[in-house]
Amino acid sequence: MSEPSNATATESSLASTHQDDWLRKRQRIEEALDAYSQFDGDCPAVLRDAMRHSLLAPGKRLRPLLVLLATDACGVDWQIAIPAGCALEMVHTYSLIHDDLPAMDDDDLRRGLPTCHKLFGEAMAILAGDALLAFAFELLSRGLSDAGQAAACVRELARAAGPTALVGGQADDLAAEFQAGDLQQLQHIHRRKTGALLVAALRMGGVIGRANDEQMDALGAYGQKLGLAFQIVDDLLDTQGNDRDLGKRAGKDQRHGKLTFPGLLGMESSVRRAATLVDEAIEATKVFGERANALQALARYVLERRH
Ligand code: IPE
Ligand code: IPE
Ligand code: MG
Ligand code: MG
Ligand code: MG
Repeated sequence: MSEPSNATATESSLASTHQDDWLRKRQRIEEALDAYSQFDGDCPAVLRDAMRHSLLAPGKRLRPLLVLLATDACGVDWQIAIPAGCALEMVHTYSLIHDDLPAMDDDDLRRGLPTCHKLFGEAMAILAGDALLAFAFELLSRGLSDAGQAAACVRELARAAGPTALVGGQADDLAAEFQAGDLQQLQHIHRRKTGALLVAALRMGGVIGRANDEQMDALGAYGQKLGLAFQIVDDLLDTQGNDRDLGKRAGKDQRHGKLTFPGLLGMESSVRRAATLVDEAIEATKVFGERANALQALARYVLERRH
């Protein structure tokens, strides 16, 4: 990670040989998210608007991209993984809506737009998050033609979103505010609140790609390393970035007394740790040979990203 930068630098870090492929996949995900979130008349218009406000706002779509790239790495057509990628993005978006609530991180800016509760009120934001979480599982269970794959993906996503992973990590993140904490505690929080969903993305892609045990282990190891690196970079960007580039408020972790990597280790050591994790993530993908190139490029992007 270097100096905070602008949108042009962000795009240039994407200007790798993989850029066209990523843009195409992201576009397909965006189209599918739009189509999946129309809902019929039984869904109140205001609830649909609140869900779509957060879901269709310009996120990086990292998690769905990881699903598609993992399926790709296994040599299976990534297009069949689109419903699974969208389900993951819906769970992620629900977690952001709730993370921003006054009772949690109390943020007013997300993906460059006012947060869901700022526009629609707290009650509707809670409900929009609830609805995205539930709908994600409906989509996942009907979006894959192979029932065994659908059940395995539901299990992966439910575990990653649940009490021992995302929600548990979020609970401990809040409990750790303004408390003394150590590295072990911090890593435990980051692995659950952020890492688990990235691991699920990779493993769901592996399920759909019919990965063998060795490939599945490699995808899981890559996801674990990348997930922790991703949240370390998120912590770094909070201290180094600005609202415009991030599309969310910078500098809020310190105000909220959050336990973070730069807070505990300092900037340089945190950057080194993220870089080492990314190297290890890349190493883990070697079993895929050439097919791992895109996953490796994505890991480097996570380190260089500016938002
Ligand atoms: C933000 O995730 C929350 C964290 C887990 C750090 P992203 O940085 O992937 O946010 P979007 O999806 O691009 O908005
Ligand atoms: C959020 O971590 C993790 C989840 C939403 C599960 P942060 O609280 O650091 O994310 P940002 O910085 O608000 O995006
Ligand atoms: Mg938070
Ligand atoms: Mg937050
Ligand atoms: Mg953060």
